Amino acid sequence: MTTSERIEEFLLAVKTAFNTGTLLRLKLGGYHGSEPELKSVDVKKIVAKGVEKFSFTFHYKTRDIIKNQIQPEALATLRAGLKAEFRSAQLATTEFDLSFERNGDKVRLKRTEVEGREAAPTEHNRAKNRPLTQTDKPYLKALGIAGKDGTVRNDAQDKFRQINKMVEIFAPLIQGIKADAPRIVDMGAGKGYLDFALYDFLAGQGRPAEIVGVEMRPKLVEDGNATAAESGFTGLSFVPGTIMDYNAGGADAVIALHACDTATDDAIYKGIKAGAALIAVAPCCHKQIRREMEAGQADDRLGVLLRHGTFLERQAEMVTDTLRALLLELSGYRTKVFEFVSDAHTPKNNLIVAEKDGRAGRDRDTILRQIADTKAMFGIRQHYLETLLHSDAQTQQPGSP
Ligand SMILES: C[S@@+](CC[C@H](N)C(=O)[O-])C[C@H]1O[C@@H](n2cnc3c(N)ncnc32)[C@H](O)[C@@H]1O
Repeated sequence: MTTSERIEEFLLAVKTAFNTGTLLRLKLGGYHGSEPELKSVDVKKIVAKGVEKFSFTFHYKTRDIIKNQIQPEALATLRAGLKAEFRSAQLATTEFDLSFERNGDKVRLKRTEVEGREAAPTEHNRAKNRPLTQTDKPYLKALGIAGKDGTVRNDAQDKFRQINKMVEIFAPLIQGIKADAPRIVDMGAGKGYLDFALYDFLAGQGRPAEIVGVEMRPKLVEDGNATAAESGFTGLSFVPGTIMDYNAGGADAVIALHACDTATDDAIYKGIKAGAALIAVAPCCHKQIRREMEAGQADDRLGVLLRHGTFLERQAEMVTDTLRALLLELSGYRTKVFEFVSDAHTPKNNLIVAEKDGRAGRDRDTILRQIADTKAMFGIRQHYLETLLHSDAQTQQPGSP
């Protein structure tokens, strides 16, 4: 059999598994294409708005990118990848595993029958598998998500889906922390949607956490504490005040969702200063760096990219968060940036997840040079987080209290 015929045989198995609902996962490895930071690709089946698609997660060194494609497009992507870029692929179905190994022009397929595997859930049945299974809860009613009858209100379905999604993302991160009852500090907690849902879910898993929401609007703090008491959530509390005034010492995780502008930097700073094992922030409004870019002198070649206000805004977002990710790395955190909810819900949908890995950060000189180069390129004199860290000498002594 020729190489092409073997690739087609492998693709036929993928296509059949996709069409019969038996596809569990597909992994592509041994990448040797032109993208230097691409490591591997995971592929699964999803159903989005009633359309069955292949969902590709491209794992890069420091980030993941997800692309969804309908079947013909996806098979073409896989065909091209298997021909020239990936040396190996593993297909797992409910009935068999099929491995693909390419060595030069030679392709080897190995099939192993398996028993007792169940089909993967798709959007059709995902509702049943949401983390928050019971909706008749005081906090869901107080937050306006459930009605008096304890079912999710029609106009709150999206919000309910979003908080479930957040629990899906945050729960494993929290569960990965080595502490019996991790102390989580949510900076700029607002009404505490995530805090209530996460607390409820973790307690239900027998893996309780202590959660503190820091919020500068006293009325939200008062309401949050009343609802926590009504729910019997003794380990959940809200405290009034600003992020910078809060003593985060002893926090295992510091999170901040859509804390405005530099409040995100305050949260990251507090997390680094506390030596938190996990720092996770979803930034919003990147005004500080936008102002710097407007006032500064960017590299001439970037002028054309920054000419239109809307693109300047997006560049400011990317530059702000790129620098945040680098500063986290410099402080000893393994850092990833990815989209955590669909941009159909909110354009502020990037999540920076930083996990302390005990090392002083990868190659400090390289990171410092990357920070300096990025700032120079965009005409930035100072990044607020960098200034905070410098003023506290945190970049020299990462994690010290
Ligand atoms: C956009 S809301 C997000 C609320 C919540 N994290 C969520 O995602 O639902 C931002 C919240 O952060 C609070 N906030 C902003 N800056 C803050 C600061 N420096 N200290 C404390 N709270 C702050 C605001 O009062 C507001 O309630």
